[in-house]
Amino acid sequence: MAANRLPVKRVREGDTAKWVPSPGGLVSALRPVMSGNPDAVWAGWAGVPGSESEPFEVDGFQCHPVGISQGELQLFYEGFSNATLWPLFHDALVPPGYHRTWWDAYRTVNQRYAATVAGLAANGATVWIHDYHLMLVPGLLREARPDLRIGFFLHIPFPARELYIQLPWRTQIINGLLGADLIGMQTPLGADNLCRAVTHITGAKTTGKLIRRNGRATQVGTFPIGIDTERIAGLAASPEVLMRSGEIRDSLGSHRTVLLGVDRLDYTKGIEVRLRAFRELLAEGRLSADNCVLVQIAEPSRSQVTGYAKVRRAVEQMVGEVNGDFGVMGHPVVHYLHQSYPLEELVAMYLMADVMLVTPLRDGMNLVAKEYVACRSGHTGVLVLSEFTGAAQELRAAELINPHDIEGLKNAVEAAVHRTDKEAKKAMRAMRKAVHTNTAPRWAAGYLDRLETC
Ligand code: G6P
Repeated sequence: MAANRLPVKRVREGDTAKWVPSPGGLVSALRPVMSGNPDAVWAGWAGVPGSESEPFEVDGFQCHPVGISQGELQLFYEGFSNATLWPLFHDALVPPGYHRTWWDAYRTVNQRYAATVAGLAANGATVWIHDYHLMLVPGLLREARPDLRIGFFLHIPFPARELYIQLPWRTQIINGLLGADLIGMQTPLGADNLCRAVTHITGAKTTGKLIRRNGRATQVGTFPIGIDTERIAGLAASPEVLMRSGEIRDSLGSHRTVLLGVDRLDYTKGIEVRLRAFRELLAEGRLSADNCVLVQIAEPSRSQVTGYAKVRRAVEQMVGEVNGDFGVMGHPVVHYLHQSYPLEELVAMYLMADVMLVTPLRDGMNLVAKEYVACRSGHTGVLVLSEFTGAAQELRAAELINPHDIEGLKNAVEAAVHRTDKEAKKAMRAMRKAVHTNTAPRWAAGYLDRLETC
């Protein structure tokens, strides 16, 4: 397995350093898949700049750190990965930057990953490469190790061809991807977009989702990622988590309807849109600080990357305004927490929240939506979910919204607050079925089975 991040990252606390879980949906979905597999190796970055360090074990599998220098972090990670590819692949919500120095670093780091994996993989092994940081690796690895079975999975959306072809290095990236035997996408739309881009750029013929080029074939398939439902359900039933959930709920005012948002602080997540809708509902008297409260968790993320500082300022200003205008003494109407929380604490929050707000402008999947559903064993609770998430393809029973339509969003939030348990239960049952059918281990098994037959 190769992904930009290892499942754990190194953080310094005063004079000591410790390992903590890495952020994001990719790691939370892949970790249970690798867990307890002593033959498996995960190659990735340890979360701090530096040279390659000693391999170590996590959850019964091997982690092999790939070194990335401070300069490369700026050009490869903050630059090409997160200020070129991330915005471009999320419908150019902020303008992507195209810089040759960023591209050079992206190539160098991808070459390092390919060389590392080529050195680790046994003869004829299966290698699974993940996400937009490593799109050249399948091609580089194919050249170095034609004996390997190579899979690639994109965790984020693949944009419309018209957007993708802005990328000055569009051909190199496509050639990199086509080194894989199987390219996995979150949604059928992503798979279609990729095939259209391939045909446009290379002239290669695609039959169904099979791309033939230079005497090789690459299969493109849709594999929506799932979550570790067993772990979430276990936590949701644990006495400590249930007690903590009750404490949080009491501290917020048990008579108030609790709305919850849990996101990395990213401009793709639609946090501002959500706050605007909430503010207008309060201003119009359709909701009040007496009967409801919004908790917004915004996990710190990519603070050095263009666009992230701006969205943080905008969100924090809006939180201040809403609390200033509508809060009452001792009872803010928005609780905003710019912090990372362990899964136990997040589950306690999911358990106590009446309404979950997931309103991204674009999102590959959104596992938070699935985690909320997995916690609601009593079948209560309402999920307000953006149509522009991969999760909306499976969670059709959610209160689906267009985050660009502020009136529609307001109506949905108001309706969610007033939904009766009976109505909510029907929808939650249907969503729980979907989440429990397609779990992270089943997703991985489905992908790997297909890869074996490519
Ligand atoms: C998304 C991406 C992951 C990434 C995660 C966290 O889920 O698909 O590849 O690891 O965000 O972002 P970060 O930049 O902190 O790795």
